[in-house]
Amino acid sequence: MSSGISGALVDVMKKEFETYIIPKGWEDKIESIEDWKKFYQSTVNSKEAVVKWWESLANEIFWFKKWDKVLDDSNPPFYRWFVGGETNLAYLCVDWNLQKGRKNKVAIIWEGEPVDERGQPKEVRKLTYYDIFRETNRIAYMLKEKLKVKKGDVVTLFLPMIPELPLYMLALQRIGAAHSVVFSGFSAEALAARVIDAKARIIVTADGLWRRGKQIKLKEIVDEVVKICEKEGHKIEKVIVIKRLGNEVPWNPEIDVWHHEILEDIPKNVYVEAVPLGSEDYSFILYTSGTTGKPKGVQHSVGGYAVHLYATMKLIFDIREDDIYWCTADIGWITGHSYIVYGPLMHGVTVIMYEGAPDYPDFTRWVQIIERYGVTIFYTTPTAIRMLMKQPEEIYMKYDTSTLRIAHSVGEPINPEAWRWFFKVFGREKTCTSSTWWMTETGGILTGHYPGRGKILPLKAGTNGPIFPGISCAVVDEDGNICKPGERGYFVITSPYPGQLMTLWNDPNRYIEVYYGKYKHKGWWFYTGDYAMIDQDGFIWVLGRADDVLKVAGHRIGTAEVESAMIKHQAVSESACVGKSDPIKGEIPVIFTVLKHGYLPSEELKQEIKRHLRATIGPVVSSDAIIIFVDSLPKTRSGKIMRRLLRGLIEGKSLGDITTLESEVAVEEAKKAYEMVKASLEKGTSSE
Ligand code: WT7
Repeated sequence: MSSGISGALVDVMKKEFETYIIPKGWEDKIESIEDWKKFYQSTVNSKEAVVKWWESLANEIFWFKKWDKVLDDSNPPFYRWFVGGETNLAYLCVDWNLQKGRKNKVAIIWEGEPVDERGQPKEVRKLTYYDIFRETNRIAYMLKEKLKVKKGDVVTLFLPMIPELPLYMLALQRIGAAHSVVFSGFSAEALAARVIDAKARIIVTADGLWRRGKQIKLKEIVDEVVKICEKEGHKIEKVIVIKRLGNEVPWNPEIDVWHHEILEDIPKNVYVEAVPLGSEDYSFILYTSGTTGKPKGVQHSVGGYAVHLYATMKLIFDIREDDIYWCTADIGWITGHSYIVYGPLMHGVTVIMYEGAPDYPDFTRWVQIIERYGVTIFYTTPTAIRMLMKQPEEIYMKYDTSTLRIAHSVGEPINPEAWRWFFKVFGREKTCTSSTWWMTETGGILTGHYPGRGKILPLKAGTNGPIFPGISCAVVDEDGNICKPGERGYFVITSPYPGQLMTLWNDPNRYIEVYYGKYKHKGWWFYTGDYAMIDQDGFIWVLGRADDVLKVAGHRIGTAEVESAMIKHQAVSESACVGKSDPIKGEIPVIFTVLKHGYLPSEELKQEIKRHLRATIGPVVSSDAIIIFVDSLPKTRSGKIMRRLLRGLIEGKSLGDITTLESEVAVEEAKKAYEMVKASLEKGTSSE
């Protein structure tokens, strides 16, 4: 198996296998490994047990109509959950809360990034469940009556972290339409590709957003998208623009409309029915990166997705009525969909939403927010933790984070050092802290400690904890043999579960191939693309991606996507993008680039190529990318780029290390390639 960042992590993580950490105040709530295993087994030891487990959770949420069958697995891997059941995500997150007496309870506390001269937030908006009920009804009415959006239509949302984003998501759910949210760090070209693939005819955007004290424009990007779509024969009918910054924006009166203007004449008390949707209708699509150049539209269900979120909020976050819940993700990614919007609102808690950067105006912004609102549950990423860790502990200790009960991380492996810092500085050594593992495709959390049962397993620094009840997983070798404890292998999910994707949008064959191609013969095991180990206690330790996908600051980036953007530049002949480990971002993309005849390496060209990357994919990739010019790329005899060699080279590995890893390549061949790339690196123009 290949090296990459996971090679070094194995040893670091293994050292933590037997160091048990008991958070303060939990001493008498620690569960023995044996008891946990018994409980866990009781939820997975037969299909009946699995069905019973999920059915009992499904019974706790609202349904217009209950299911006829919990799980239909007659056509794998197209699993259907709660077949015949009818519910609606907007009903669960809004109407259901009004029925439970939460009408005037604050649902969302939103804090904008800008601060006044005293460092206090300039803009705070509080929306109650009743506010959300009214606003989403008005938006739903507008979409349905004015723009003729109907069940099954997809509307693209290209929005910053402002309350209107969840409002539009919920309004669409209300009428049975689906959203495709695209992260605001993508470029026009990347957004256009996603709009066209989803066949969306309406885009909702804003005039811009605040980030690190700067205004970032969004409307201009959408204008570009409208043009690209038109060229591709796809017509955008309406662009709805939300006023965030209040600046002048270019305007096309035929297409553009202000959000506040199109809603103006819609009465406050308008009511639109939250339509009963089939459990197996789709609720949204969300594009993510894979190993090919084309982004995948991950398609999620209504009922199974709802039950999975309900269950994980209850157990992993131990959610309670008076919780102040804060997940720092951007709603443009799955973490925000599931654990800012649908999961917590379904449980009727108060959710914090913050617009900006963690280090604006200084590094204490997040602890200030925790103190200001008395946050009890906190969910963030290792990259942010590692960034904050660079500052002296004392600056954070001055603020009161003692309200926190749960503080989990997500998105990429967390190194034990960062885990310990987070547990101490944020958690004050009393939080249940786990690194919850999951993916866009899984819809919700699949691993992590679950304090919601009233007890927890001991913590370990950096672990992903146990697998969630009712779900089965394994770490296996290339052929699917189960690895021994502590042995590294591929992480696979060996049973269906309610939150998992239904399929890939308009591409069922790709769904089968990507996730089940490798271990179909083993009984439809889901291939995650991650390396992992399982320790002696059954805890999972995910080590990083095993395929050509990078996790840059937790963002998922397909190297093939980067490479296909690169060759669109006139000077580039070919390129290979590999991940280099980075102390803060986890990984950063390094792009080995061969220029066409007639182009010479230069700093200007490097910057120009970076601008090109920014235009084709967006700042999400270009801001961290390092471009290295080389004379040629090392390839095997069959023409495959030797990525592992390139990765080894940038990690400073010796040739000896590399050749033992390159199993499919002759040593001589690797040696030649190594010397060749090394020589071009040493020519000086190439280094960053
Ligand atoms: C990939 C999925 C899950 C929401 C955010 C990411 C990596 C995710 C962890 C974790 C180690 C993790 C994996 C996975 N990952 N969580 N706790 N520990 N790795 O969703 O963008 O679809 O990325 O993120 O590599 O495959 P995503």
